[in-house]
Amino acid sequence: MLEITTKSAEESKRLGFHLGKLLKKGDVVGLMGDLGAGKTVFTQGVAEGLKVKDYVTSPTFTLINQYEGGLPFYHFDVYRLDDPEELLDLGYEEYFYGEGVTIIEWAEKIEDYLPYCCLIVYFHRLQEKISDTDTRRIVFKPRSKRFVQAVEELKKNVGSGD
Ligand SMILES: Nc1ncnc2c1ncn2[C@@H]1O[C@H](COP(=O)(O)OP(=O)(O)OP(=O)(O)O)[C@@H](O)[C@H]1O
Ligand SMILES: [Mg+2]
Repeated sequence: MLEITTKSAEESKRLGFHLGKLLKKGDVVGLMGDLGAGKTVFTQGVAEGLKVKDYVTSPTFTLINQYEGGLPFYHFDVYRLDDPEELLDLGYEEYFYGEGVTIIEWAEKIEDYLPYCCLIVYFHRLQEKISDTDTRRIVFKPRSKRFVQAVEELKKNVGSGD
């Protein structure tokens, strides 16, 4: 587990960038947490780390946006999914177990469909004080050996300040 506190959107994006650089074909990352906590901002960083050139926005109405970077990049946002079974109509397996990297906002809504091996990232807003409005706690929970290693690597890279 890795827990990081960021103090700006830019910092969260940078953290995403470091993760994006480590991701490989077939990786699935589930983002969970509060509304407006920074999941999309983080995803923009991940996309940059994967060398996606397009501007990444949340696929609110389409559920999924696909981008080309060093690898195909599939960005799901399942907030508006009424029934998790709708994922079957989307052919989700082609993405989750496909040739690219998948990131899912609101992954808690499709917990039963997440691959056994995935990385979960939790986002929390810390708003106990007015001065904390830009502070976010971001917690990485690897669910497989592959991601335990990736998170270890992430910890090193973030700490090195590159
Ligand atoms: N430390 C921070 N990390 C990330 N975003 C921050 C931070 N501080 C302030 N922000 C702001 O919070 C907002 C986060 O929005 P974002 O769309 O990324 O959230 P989200 O988790 O994707 O929300 P939703 O659940 O609606 O999809 C942005 O406006 C961003 O500028
Ligand atoms: Mg979002």
